[in-house]
Amino acid sequence: MNSRRITIFAALAACTTLAACGGADSRDTDRTSGPANEPNSVMYFDSTQAVIPGTAAAGAAGGTANGAELFTRCAVCHQASGLGVTGAYPPLAGSEWLLNNPEVPIRIVLHGLQGPITVKSTSFNSAMTPFADQLSDAEIAAIITYERSSWGNSASKITAEQVASVRAATKAQTAPWKPDELKGLIGK
Ligand code: HEC
Repeated sequence: MNSRRITIFAALAACTTLAACGGADSRDTDRTSGPANEPNSVMYFDSTQAVIPGTAAAGAAGGTANGAELFTRCAVCHQASGLGVTGAYPPLAGSEWLLNNPEVPIRIVLHGLQGPITVKSTSFNSAMTPFADQLSDAEIAAIITYERSSWGNSASKITAEQVASVRAATKAQTAPWKPDELKGLIGK
């Protein structure tokens, strides 16, 4: 009993140490090196922080990932108008899947989506490819932020940190989501 307890404590201590050396913490260090009187969320989008080319940290600091530009990848299907294509690609303008709980669009972009779905009272049944291996956390954050604030949409910004935490929490997901699996998250 005693030795088991010691093992658990040792494991906890190891985890704490790993977390302290992990990516999340090195980003924290970056942020705290910025203007001291600004809250993290503002500094995150401060383009003056994006001075380290070619690193995730540069993208995460905002400014380098251009949501409008990156959206061309989505516009192939969802159209530049955000209105989609009847019978094939659902709309992003006014979509309840996009505009409520940010975790829903983040999960969809990371892992894709396949199966029957109703968007704005219209049914679709097709497939969207996953982007987890093609887009960084900062790029996904920039794209979804762009979509949530275009075509009359006005939902909150998404940060690279939010994408990173959903990416970590869903890393076991190997197949596209089924819409039914995500539907319950919309209102949360
Ligand atoms: C290959 C075409 C294609 C591309 C590229 C694509 N999507 Fe989709 N997307 C779809 C389809 C098809 C669905 C509906 C899937 C279904 O029927 O289950 C969908 C569903 C969605 C939904 C949920 C429904 C809605 O309309 O709100 C969101 C949000 C979304 N896509 C965002 C994106 C974003 C962001 C990108 C770019 C990173 C993107 N999509 C790229 C085809 C695509």
